Amino acid sequence: MKVLAILYDGGVHAEQEPRLLGTVENQLGIRKFLEEQGHEFVVSSSKEGPDSVFQKEMKDAEVLITTPFHPGYLTRDIVESAPKLKLCITAGVGSDHIDLNAAVDHKIQVLEVSGSNVVSVAEHVVMSILLLVRNFVPAHEMIERGDWQVSQIARHAFDLENKVVGTIGAGRIGYRVLQRLVPFDCKELLYYDYAALPAQAAKAINARRVEDLKVFVSQCDVVTVNCPLHEGTRGLVNAELLKHFKKGAWLVNTARGAICDKDAVAEALKSGQLSGYAGDVWNVQPAPRDHVWRTMKNPLGGGNGMVPHYSGTTLDAQARYANGVKSILENYLSGKPQEPGNVIIGVSGYETKAYGQR
Ligand code: NAI
Repeated sequence: MKVLAILYDGGVHAEQEPRLLGTVENQLGIRKFLEEQGHEFVVSSSKEGPDSVFQKEMKDAEVLITTPFHPGYLTRDIVESAPKLKLCITAGVGSDHIDLNAAVDHKIQVLEVSGSNVVSVAEHVVMSILLLVRNFVPAHEMIERGDWQVSQIARHAFDLENKVVGTIGAGRIGYRVLQRLVPFDCKELLYYDYAALPAQAAKAINARRVEDLKVFVSQCDVVTVNCPLHEGTRGLVNAELLKHFKKGAWLVNTARGAICDKDAVAEALKSGQLSGYAGDVWNVQPAPRDHVWRTMKNPLGGGNGMVPHYSGTTLDAQARYANGVKSILENYLSGKPQEPGNVIIGVSGYETKAYGQR
């Protein structure tokens, strides 16, 4: 059996830090495990175009391992050029880089290591909310420049206390974000999700559901996006929806770049309709050098909290998703049932309710 893994290059960092398991160099720590059983294991970061290792090796691979941090985009065309493909494993959470409907049509299973990095991301979201609301990035840049002008920063710095924070998507990450915000004494914690939280879970954090998206965003000082990217969420936060945000709201998106319209967000920040935008996910990864989200600013020259896609790939998370990939492979090879929470597409179609209402 051929197993193909598309991972990111770790370079010298991966040589110096073996816990960077999600890299081409450290190969999720599974080479020995696969080769001892006689399987072929091909690992590469080359993923774009017909001459990439990804597209060439897919032709006879049975298992594909990809990571959202450096996504090998498995389009319908590539699925159709891969007759042996039976299983796609996402090393992490979020399988939108795979054409899931094509996987269903071709009876290819898609599994994620659900839960593996949800705390990692929730912590990053809380950090991003705070750094926007408190105007941290321009304050730090000022210090590095050698300047000191408190009023320039303080004129746009606020407390999180008494603000309304809402999450689009209240699954594993969205819920954990709200849970972590409870001690900040926000005015209200809101959520928008077609799946209601269990009554006990909502009560435990005093979260209120708002069923209309425009009404929801119009009530939030801070909006955080925590739903998967699928047909129903691509471009969900667009110019039209941004008009319904409170003037000067903050937006944090660590879910997927393409859920927010790139140019509409940049424009809303520039006009001051948004005070800030932060996240680690981009509509294309790696993001081009001239991507507008790298340098966009609000009218006061701040409000940008963008970083490369790393919130869910802390060393703690890498240990968990590398282990998870191995156990999915063990189950597959021995014919044992998979952990139900990991199955996005099973042999007979969608097994999750999180990738849109069908
Ligand atoms: P989950 O499956 O536990 O929760 C997703 C929630 O979103 C579900 O409650 C679902 O009903 C809801 N949802 C789906 N479509 C929606 C819509 N149209 N409107 C409102 N809610 C909707 O997933 P989890 O673990 O919370 O992860 C969410 C997403 O976060 C992943 O799919 C992935 O894209 C992203 N992620 C990002 C990471 C990073 O490193 N930046 C790491 C891990 C996940």
